[in-house]
Amino acid sequence: MATLRVEHLNKTFPAIERGSDATTAIDDLSFEIGGHVFVSVVGPSGCGKSTLLNIVSGIETATHGSVSVSEDGSPARLGYVFQEPRLLPWRTVMQNMLYVLEGEDVPDRARDYLRMVGLDDAGGKFPAQLSGGMQQRVGIARAFAVEPDLLLMDEPFSHLDAITARSLREQLQGIWTEAKKTVLFVTHDIAEAVQLSNRVLILAPGGRLFADLPIELPYPRKASDTEVAMAQAELLRRFEEMQEETDAARATDVAS
Ligand SMILES: Nc1ncnc2c1ncn2[C@@H]1O[C@H](COP(=O)(O)OP(=O)(O)OP(=O)(O)O)[C@@H](O)[C@H]1O
Ligand SMILES: [Mg+2]
Repeated sequence: MATLRVEHLNKTFPAIERGSDATTAIDDLSFEIGGHVFVSVVGPSGCGKSTLLNIVSGIETATHGSVSVSEDGSPARLGYVFQEPRLLPWRTVMQNMLYVLEGEDVPDRARDYLRMVGLDDAGGKFPAQLSGGMQQRVGIARAFAVEPDLLLMDEPFSHLDAITARSLREQLQGIWTEAKKTVLFVTHDIAEAVQLSNRVLILAPGGRLFADLPIELPYPRKASDTEVAMAQAELLRRFEEMQEETDAARATDVAS
């Protein structure tokens, strides 16, 4: 389990063409998460969610501010589950797992995590022989098998059909409860955020932190639980508030 500290983070992408504007993807964002927590970042398309994960993972650099991830004072190990599974098509499932792992117990560990996502028998298959949901489960098993201190997940279920996504959410809750990881999970799906997280950060367009809300409900949670539905309604209300504020600010900008 890790501690992630984000302090006054700013990311501006320069203008691509002459005459166009630079894009502020993240604007003075600060928060801290640590321990056995599942934190979701929700916000509309383009509000900087993937940019945030990319900066935390080191794929992207910050323009200003700082991000640190530590595990008991030493650098933390990170895992990343992307929006699409990103498996190497010419390698089998097991070879895709082994490719990212280190250590002597690697084949056992790979098998354990494939079992955890219900794919014990798929090790010898190639990605093209699996359904989209199965491929995504391999991506999840692979990220967990790295045994990361901090697991970053970027809308991992958004390409999947509703039934597969629902079952993977339930599996993910089980794995997270058992594996005791710190998870930073990006989604634009409010129901998903409420079902999975014990804390939700709402990002507004321009990458500003709009709200930081705890969700204090016991696990496992089902989307159909009454308390989950009530928490969803509350989060949705805050989301609408954010959209109204954004629209009002835009209207003022246009008028001035
Ligand atoms: N490499 C880049 N160069 C220029 N602009 C970029 C780049 N990456 C992202 N952006 C811009 O930064 C903003 C935030 O993008 P980002 O991908 O982080 O959004 P997001 O919240 O993940 O959206 P979505 O929900 O659609 O995945 C957008 O305006 C996007 O156009
Ligand atoms: Mg994104």
